[in-house]
Amino acid sequence: MRTIIVGTGIAGLVCALAHPAPEDVLVLTKADPRASNTDAAQGGIAAVTRPPAPGDSIASHVADTLTAGAGLCDAEAVQTLCGDGPDRIADLIAAGVPFDRTPDGALSRGLEAAHSVARILHAGGDATGAGIAGALLAAVTHRGIEIRPHTLVTELITDGGRVRGVRTLTPGGAGSDGAGSDRVAGAGVVQEIQADAVVLATGGAGQLYPYTSNPDVATADGVALAARVGAVLADLEFYQFHPTTLALPGNFLVSEAVRGEGAVLRDSAGSRFMIGVHPDAELAPRDVVARAVADRMRETGAPVVLDATRLGDRLAGRFPSIDAAVRSAGLDWAREPVPITPAAHYWMGGVATDLAGRTSIPGLYAVGEVARTGVHGANRLASNSLLEGAVFGHRAALSLTDPTPLSHTPALDVADQNEPAITAEHPAGATVSGARADLQRVMWDAVGLGRDDDGLAQAEETLAGWTAAGATAGTVAEHETANLLLVARLMARAARARTRSAGAHFRTDDAHLLETAS
Ligand code: SIN
Repeated sequence: MRTIIVGTGIAGLVCALAHPAPEDVLVLTKADPRASNTDAAQGGIAAVTRPPAPGDSIASHVADTLTAGAGLCDAEAVQTLCGDGPDRIADLIAAGVPFDRTPDGALSRGLEAAHSVARILHAGGDATGAGIAGALLAAVTHRGIEIRPHTLVTELITDGGRVRGVRTLTPGGAGSDGAGSDRVAGAGVVQEIQADAVVLATGGAGQLYPYTSNPDVATADGVALAARVGAVLADLEFYQFHPTTLALPGNFLVSEAVRGEGAVLRDSAGSRFMIGVHPDAELAPRDVVARAVADRMRETGAPVVLDATRLGDRLAGRFPSIDAAVRSAGLDWAREPVPITPAAHYWMGGVATDLAGRTSIPGLYAVGEVARTGVHGANRLASNSLLEGAVFGHRAALSLTDPTPLSHTPALDVADQNEPAITAEHPAGATVSGARADLQRVMWDAVGLGRDDDGLAQAEETLAGWTAAGATAGTVAEHETANLLLVARLMARAARARTRSAGAHFRTDDAHLLETAS
């Protein structure tokens, strides 16, 4: 089965490796293959191993994931995620991922927020994603699978309601074989590539916001592509903000694992304010910590700091990448607290799929952050995302050649948030009248850590005013901005429709909360 996989994060690469016929696989990525959220991942991958760590079990990982998800996870999807974990970790080790080990050779495990035991595997201290991406890219190449970089998928080709391939844009024409291509002045080469199946593994959407831990490539492309062919979308309002990125340009992530090792948060008066917010203090669920940090910053008008000084000189050895980033900003975090701020980090919603990556559109699959499998509910448990990519990338690969319909089909069970009227206004290649920075500001202010109906209504109106100026063949950046605008509109609409707070979706005008507080 001729298969196109779009994206080179863990989900796409695992899918390529598990595909039964490597000669039938083509992997496309719009940038360098290392440009991904996977490559940037620090803290690690959460999983129960075989044998499990003392005190750990799949039931415990399931329970923690369900709790973090604020009651909105799909229980069967969570069981699948955690249950497949041990096998996928074994695969990653076999593929050469250099997980850190203790002096006696056992896997080294860290603790992160809302995990009841230390079960976070890491590599290179805090360079887990780079260790995974490097090993998987080498394994994919070794298997003879072609990876075509700098090739943006601009459109899914459909025929009779089924996805049959992709249309691509290669800037400047590099890498194109010219077959069936049309040169487009100023943008590059447009090409059509036929396939029996297209697997979206395009990652997230951090570029919807001005402050994000995500790389520049995270522009919601996969959700926008799927939306335009009518795929069911779900949970779009659930966007997770990481509590601790450096409050400096670039928002370098300071992994939750640093708090797991004992670092604490303090306000400008030096007070550990998280103690009064949640029994787990700095290791409370991520949405709770992110909101508390934002609230304290707003109340005091001063930065919140991460105090890791109790770890002292151990920081450089355990967190070498963060240590280098902090020091390059002129800060000595072993001796002084450093300013942090919440930033956009991970999207729980996306293209609805079943437990084998199948979307509502025949021939179209989605795996990893672009997918909404139901495993995260309203709030993803820390370090479950790399595991999700490995588990569902693998399952999608196996299902490509399996025609048996699954009994459990969340893709069909969820309320569809794809709005045909909005999506139709944003065809592929449309140019956008508003600037990307303006869009990011609207999203941060109205569809960020706290939302209310007035702000969301205003955001919907503002974003609708930037509708596309007709379908033209734009540059890569123009395609990305058009994708962001379409997705921003769908997300604002979904956020407005959910009037009650849940997990990462926090409504400041939630009537129930206001009643309880008064
Ligand atoms: C972190 O290292 O804090 C991020 C891990 C994650 O987002 O799962």
